Amino acid sequence: MKFFVDTAEIKEIEALAATGLLDGVTTNPSLVAKSGRKFVDVLKDICAVVKGPVSAEVTATEHKTMLAEGRKLAKVADNIAVKVPLTPDGLRACKALSSEGTMVNVTLCFSAAQAILAAKAGATFISPFVGRLDDIGSDGMSLIADIVTIYRQYEEFDTEVLVASVRGPQHVVTAAKLGAHVATMPPTVLWQMFKHPLTDNGLAAFLADWKKTGQSILD
Ligand code: E4P
Repeated sequence: MKFFVDTAEIKEIEALAATGLLDGVTTNPSLVAKSGRKFVDVLKDICAVVKGPVSAEVTATEHKTMLAEGRKLAKVADNIAVKVPLTPDGLRACKALSSEGTMVNVTLCFSAAQAILAAKAGATFISPFVGRLDDIGSDGMSLIADIVTIYRQYEEFDTEVLVASVRGPQHVVTAAKLGAHVATMPPTVLWQMFKHPLTDNGLAAFLADWKKTGQSILD
């Protein structure tokens, strides 16, 4: 399973890249606005640190302008995945961009029907937003189960299921059990995945006992 981080903050990305466990990055217009920086500068900085797919979202809603934006964003670096919304215009842009060899992440997916359309449009990634479905009392993870099941029925669907709007480590674990290809998560969630109180307690006890021996491994 691949791990992407969902942020436009370069310092957070650098820290997670240093773990050696980061496979890619997703951004969206809200995250770029939060960074307070110029979009293209943010993307250049991220692509210099992370070699895997870096999602950059178009902001036009009409097909022709989306395509122009997508082509411009794709020129920033070879590892840009252009993000388009799940609308008729977005999927038209998806089809054109993927036929040109550009990776495309279709975002704002909330139903299995939408995910089928994205796969038919040649999306590299489909991004179902699990947290936002949970927020309205729906079950985000059952959507992941449906999409994974459907995509497995058709050899010609090579779209990867990118679980988005992740709220905690349990979302990642459930997504992994279901066989989702990728999870994108806020930096805090990826750091939380390392944590367990028994790891902390166990390590403290080992180190206290080791201190009593008066030894040093490097001496
Ligand atoms: C994914 O690409 C999106 O940017 C992201 O996962 C949205 O998450 P949110 O619902 O926490 O805003």
